[in-house]
Amino acid sequence: MKRRQVLKTLLISAALMLPAGAALAADAVKVGLILPMTGPFASTGRQVEAGAKLYMAEHGDEVAGHKIELILRDDTANAEQTRRIAQELVTREKVQVLAGFGHTPLAMAAAPLATQGKVPMIVMAAGTSVITEKSPFIVRSSFTLPQVTEPLAKWAKDNKIEKVVTLVADYAPGLDAEKAFSDTFTKAGGQIVESIRVPLANPDFAPFLQRVRDAKPDAVFSFVPSGVGSALMKQFDDRGLAQAGIRLIATGDVTDDDLLNKMGKAALGTITTHHYSAAHDSPENKAFVKAFEAANGGMRPNFMAVGGYDGMALIYEALKKTGGDAKGEALVNAMKGLSWTSVRGPVSIDPETRDIVQTVYFREVKEQDGQLWNVEFDKVEAVKDPVKAAKK
Ligand code: PHB
Repeated sequence: MKRRQVLKTLLISAALMLPAGAALAADAVKVGLILPMTGPFASTGRQVEAGAKLYMAEHGDEVAGHKIELILRDDTANAEQTRRIAQELVTREKVQVLAGFGHTPLAMAAAPLATQGKVPMIVMAAGTSVITEKSPFIVRSSFTLPQVTEPLAKWAKDNKIEKVVTLVADYAPGLDAEKAFSDTFTKAGGQIVESIRVPLANPDFAPFLQRVRDAKPDAVFSFVPSGVGSALMKQFDDRGLAQAGIRLIATGDVTDDDLLNKMGKAALGTITTHHYSAAHDSPENKAFVKAFEAANGGMRPNFMAVGGYDGMALIYEALKKTGGDAKGEALVNAMKGLSWTSVRGPVSIDPETRDIVQTVYFREVKEQDGQLWNVEFDKVEAVKDPVKAAKK
């Protein structure tokens, strides 16, 4: 009896001697952030990470009694690495949330692990429609290619563009963009004269742009992933397509805010559709751009940064809603139907598809105060992913 009591007293005093943070740390919600931090798509990783970190800096690292711990891992945009890292984060680090996913194949590689581990997986960057169907634990804070492409195809037909060549990166989001553009444009009475697919890695656009020239369309519609747009823009200019009377219209991935300023005059007048522009005129966005640039040595945020920022908002708001319950099903259920005012405008999570519903903006590249911006001139509100809407 006596010995047991002494032991108990010792244990209690040991517990009291623990630093205050230790009890909380045991309770921390770990978020495994998997991104391409090196390699050809490092700009995506850098932007998403900076967006997520800014959200935490502004909102504190504690939610509903839990400390939020971000664990960043570099998958170098290699799907086998993404799968391995996701596995390790779930089984060894015991993360309660997986997040990031810079490209579609990377998100696809991690999806089975989210299902097996019952871990919510926040897709902050990748944009192929089908991704959210790969696990009931996936919620998306970025966008889908069909969501931003369909409005552009309608705009083109309404603006005297009759013949189009499509030119897309030859992988899942490119094929999504190609199909969304072609289907919508031809349905509206337009004609697709050629569909060109370019390799994803280090594309040399010159031979493909020559084919575009020969086909003599009114415009070329393009999607290439964030980070690749300036190469396309430069070669479009070098080959004199604009002088030949061919317009470039694209998803906003091509005139990515991270690179736009360095694209120079060749980019002026390019019409794009997308869900975020650093030039978006709202008090929330003005504050966001200012804080982001201040925290990142003047780097301008692009849509990837906003995917990271809003992805963290999703995690924080869901945790508040569950009162700190971080179990997979509870968190995903809490994310369904959430809505908030993002720096991009009003957004919500479609409770049926777990995709983001958002405004799609029409923008033109313009020079303002000596810098290039995607200046919004029109919009379509509350756009869902059209591929899933059509399946219902
Ligand atoms: C994707 O791989 O899903 C992806 C990557 C970059 C983008 C858009 C989509 O800009």
